[in-house]
Amino acid sequence: MASLLRIDVSPRGNASYSRRLGDTFTEAWKSAHSGGSVAERDLAVNQPTYVDIQWIQGAFSAPDQQTDAHKAALKLSDEYIAEVKAADHILITTPMYNFTVPAVLKAWIDHVVRVGVTVNYTDKGPVGQLNGKKVTVIVASAGAYVKGTPTENFNYLNPYLQHILGFIGITDVTFVNAEGGAGVQYGKISEADYLKPSEDKIAELAKA
Ligand SMILES: Cc1cc2nc3c(=O)[nH]c(=O)nc-3n(C[C@H](O)[C@H](O)[C@H](O)COP(=O)(O)O)c2cc1C
Repeated sequence: MASLLRIDVSPRGNASYSRRLGDTFTEAWKSAHSGGSVAERDLAVNQPTYVDIQWIQGAFSAPDQQTDAHKAALKLSDEYIAEVKAADHILITTPMYNFTVPAVLKAWIDHVVRVGVTVNYTDKGPVGQLNGKKVTVIVASAGAYVKGTPTENFNYLNPYLQHILGFIGITDVTFVNAEGGAGVQYGKISEADYLKPSEDKIAELAKA
């Protein structure tokens, strides 16, 4: 049975473009995968904790050496990793903040990237352990980062996510960038026209 894990990041609820496009994706995915399961993790509603000293000591101790405080600090990490492992397809819906991922998404990443669990260091260097998964990332941004324009190199979000997901073994990553949302705010483009190119892409991607 196909399984989708949906991770939402924007704190803007129904006003969020990335969430709304995520709804479109989820509905299309459900239609294309009858009987498939959808798990949801809302990082805006239930915000991740940050890596702290107990987390670090626990993550670098053998399981039989971990104290109760270590285990408590790693509980959320264990949950997030179990959710990712259980999914064939992971949908991340996120705003761009300050040219990269919002802090809550970075905090989620810090829990999921764990030496000896999701990435192993070997003689040949780091080897990601989460193979065979597909990720779709829906990104909403006010600006546009189009090749050949002065802002083309300012999108640090896509390359960062591509790299860190690859680091834990997930190389099949597709981005849908809903760029230029500021145009809606300034009355230069309708909301429907802003969303349409992303909706078209999503309808295709959700079938896979
Ligand atoms: C704190 C903050 C930082 C932002 N930084 C950027 C940015 O660096 N580049 C950009 O294009 N848009 C930026 N934006 C605009 C958001 O990406 C845009 O409003 C997007 O639609 C938010 O996603 P959402 O609609 O899913 O909430 C920022 C917005 C906020 C609140």
